[in-house]
Amino acid sequence: MEQLAWWQKTIVYEAYPKSFLDTEGAGTGTLQGIIQKLDYLASLGVGAIWLTPVYCSPMKDNGYDIANYYDIDPRFGTMDDMDQLIAEAEKRNIRIVMDLVMNHTSDENPWFIESSSSKESEKSNWYIWQDAKEDGSEPTNWRGVFGGSTWTWCESRRQYYYHTFAEFQPDLNWECEEMRRELYRMARFWLDKGLGGFRIDAVVYIKKRPFEDAVPDTPDSMADITLLGSNIPGILDFLNEFKHEVMDGYDAFTVAEANGVKPEELPDWVGDTGVFDMLFEFNHMDVAMGKNGAWYKPARWKLPDLTSALTASQTATAQNGWYPIYFENHDQARAVSQFFPRAVNTTAASKMFGCVLMTLRGTPFLYQGEELGYLNVAWSSIDCYDDVSSYNQYDLALQAGKTEEQALACVHLHSRDNARTPMQWDASENAGFTTGTPWLPIHDDYQTCNVEVQSTNPNSVLEWYRSLAQLREDLPVLIEGDYEELLPGDEHIYAFSRTNGSEKAVILANFAERFVPYDTTLAEGLTVALSTHGNHTPGSLQPFEAVIWRN
Ligand code: GLC
Repeated sequence: MEQLAWWQKTIVYEAYPKSFLDTEGAGTGTLQGIIQKLDYLASLGVGAIWLTPVYCSPMKDNGYDIANYYDIDPRFGTMDDMDQLIAEAEKRNIRIVMDLVMNHTSDENPWFIESSSSKESEKSNWYIWQDAKEDGSEPTNWRGVFGGSTWTWCESRRQYYYHTFAEFQPDLNWECEEMRRELYRMARFWLDKGLGGFRIDAVVYIKKRPFEDAVPDTPDSMADITLLGSNIPGILDFLNEFKHEVMDGYDAFTVAEANGVKPEELPDWVGDTGVFDMLFEFNHMDVAMGKNGAWYKPARWKLPDLTSALTASQTATAQNGWYPIYFENHDQARAVSQFFPRAVNTTAASKMFGCVLMTLRGTPFLYQGEELGYLNVAWSSIDCYDDVSSYNQYDLALQAGKTEEQALACVHLHSRDNARTPMQWDASENAGFTTGTPWLPIHDDYQTCNVEVQSTNPNSVLEWYRSLAQLREDLPVLIEGDYEELLPGDEHIYAFSRTNGSEKAVILANFAERFVPYDTTLAEGLTVALSTHGNHTPGSLQPFEAVIWRN
């Protein structure tokens, strides 16, 4: 087997800095907060920390609206804090990974302010401007990912500008070479600080399709841009240029958010022949979430929907590239609540997901709170939520004929804010997250679900994750081994093996909250390495039990 790179052998932890740890009493997390918890993260076996954006931003989409790429937002700290974080992390063998948002900026970015000032401005062409239709309306009938038209009128230019996401997130014009060069310069500025890589945001949208009306497909009679506007031919020219002008020569990885890339296109996108090292796919998450993020439509799923999606990705990345495994991130609700809204033993379900996360072939991406078995919140009104996309999906649900109560139930199930509540460090006021008022309410369960309490309980979700991380160190087959699904189509058990020469591991995860028998020949000649329930009885899996065997 070819020598694996450092990022293929490690675990990546996604931190949502705004909700991680506040050292200033302002109610929002800081970079110093992350520095304080580096030993904690090292104890989880983490080798890289992906920070969602910490650049200067008005924070209308929590940093995914960048006003200045070259500085840290004062709410998070200073450039010195960032340099200190990179250095302190490195002492613990942890690399820092930043989020690179190159599809759009904030409308408060001076680039946009200049571009919007007049058609003659120096940066006139850095964003996407179009004249109105003859009747003065928007150039196309496209609906943005966060709702409403993808076009907003600008009086100073008497033109519309284009935005894939919210109106305050104008899209950059990648056809403009001068703009691209500036983005590349900016990315190298950060790599030169010693970053371990970039998570590349919304990159499938950088190339635009011809600006023409499309067939309406949402309750507001517009055409949703989520699929329509992604992965447009010609995009790879830009991405190849990015790869060579930015990434070549650095020991840093790229993981791109890439919905809409088809399996047969993967060789162009990942691996030796592709533009990135890894791609985040959405297929396995869409099983519970609904296609293309349209989560106001109820999604009914069966285990084979999930396992066949996972196996398809495992098979595709066995040929090309490497797989970033995830069940949670800052855009997803908590996995257990989303997949099993009626689960009783949520601790067992969290451990079962953890087992799959840490034993599939690829690099596990663990999202903050997942290691504690966080669950969704259920606030009493849409006004309690902060997230732009939750407002949008709530409105869509109402337009689709749901009652307010039903629309709110969709928000409870899928809102991104479920993943954004503050970290729970201990049982003190505000869970030890802040001495001020937290920007988003702390989950009600913080007195029992927190790092301090779980660290002293050998049966906690947190200790389970630590055992899994240790097992990955002890059992190289979990990192290097090939994947094979053992019971395709099974409605309750997800079973797979990992093999590398004579080394073998078998994983069985019971996705049902009831006892399920299994054929013991699946693990013949192997011994139990870890089991979620501690006392595995051969031949039967307890509700949500997961077991790892090894030879
Ligand atoms: C990505 C981010 C998401 C953000 C959006 C717009 O999907 O993960 O949080 O809102 O891009 O930048």
